[in-house]
Amino acid sequence: MFSLCLPLLLLLPLSQTAPPSDAPPTQHCARCCDHLEYQSSPPEGGDTPPAGKYIVPEIRPYINMTILKVWTVYLGKFLLNRSSRNEQPFKVQAIVSHHYYDEESHDYDLALLQLDRPVAPSTLAQPACLPARTHHLQPGFKCWVTGWGSAGEGGPSSNVLQKVDVSLITQDICNQSYRYKISPRMLCAGYPDGKKDACQGDSGGPLVCKEPNGRWFLVGVVSWGIGCGRPNFYGVYTRITKMVDWIDEVTS
Ligand SMILES: *[C@@H]1O[C@H](CO)[C@@H](O)[C@H](O)[C@H]1NC(C)=O
Ligand SMILES: *[C@@H]1O[C@H](CO)[C@@H](O)[C@H](O)[C@H]1NC(C)=O
Ligand SMILES: *[C@@H]1O[C@H](CO)[C@@H](O)[C@H](O)[C@H]1NC(C)=O
Repeated sequence: MFSLCLPLLLLLPLSQTAPPSDAPPTQHCARCCDHLEYQSSPPEGGDTPPAGKYIVPEIRPYINMTILKVWTVYLGKFLLNRSSRNEQPFKVQAIVSHHYYDEESHDYDLALLQLDRPVAPSTLAQPACLPARTHHLQPGFKCWVTGWGSAGEGGPSSNVLQKVDVSLITQDICNQSYRYKISPRMLCAGYPDGKKDACQGDSGGPLVCKEPNGRWFLVGVVSWGIGCGRPNFYGVYTRITKMVDWIDEVTS
């Protein structure tokens, strides 16, 4: 019943391009898991909320992300601004962050969320396979990243779930462009001339690749990057093949 931040994939015929801009470099690591919603105020016209159940909006920037009851996980979500019959909400029973996670370098950037009940099969939310530790990722292979992040640096988050194709980049090229700050637990994807990338608000979202056998694999989780879609910079993802032993350990 453990689940990665967003292991379930919703494929939609949408495309996003993040135009390069002159804005100063920003990292898109700050907003983890924006597709998970936390309660920031009581529903309008509702009864007085039970003590401790709601977080007042003013303290939202300082929200303690490890408090379980502030999280709701939605499977099958498409529009951020309203719910639909197709989505299933889950409460979170446990959050396990990687014990080596380093805030400064973003190394080991992964957490597991345990949901309050098993996931029922649905046509909209489909699982992605976890790769084996030895799974070979071919540089140049095209994969897909999805999220409700902004469509350009500094822009607002998207209301409609977006998807974009990104190409897997070798560690050497990415390490050079990021001044040797890429660890073996990171994976880069994008294009030398930029344009297509994850951005603020996409962090925690899935990077999936379709293998020739037709199965989709979760190869990365959106982690960080400098700006969005800039030439010679790439999106940096948590490399799932380096995390599967830890995932097995936590979930077994
Ligand atoms: C956040 O909440 C957890 C669990 O209640 C607690 O152990 C931790 O100290 C809190 N962290 C901060 C920074 O308040
Ligand atoms: C939600 O967004 C959709 C699509 O962007 C829009 O058509 C709709 O009016 C919005 N609904 C609400 C309740 O804001
Ligand atoms: C990137 O370069 C640094 C410094 O040479 C090295 O420590 C690190 O392991 C390299 N990263 C990868 C993924 O090879």
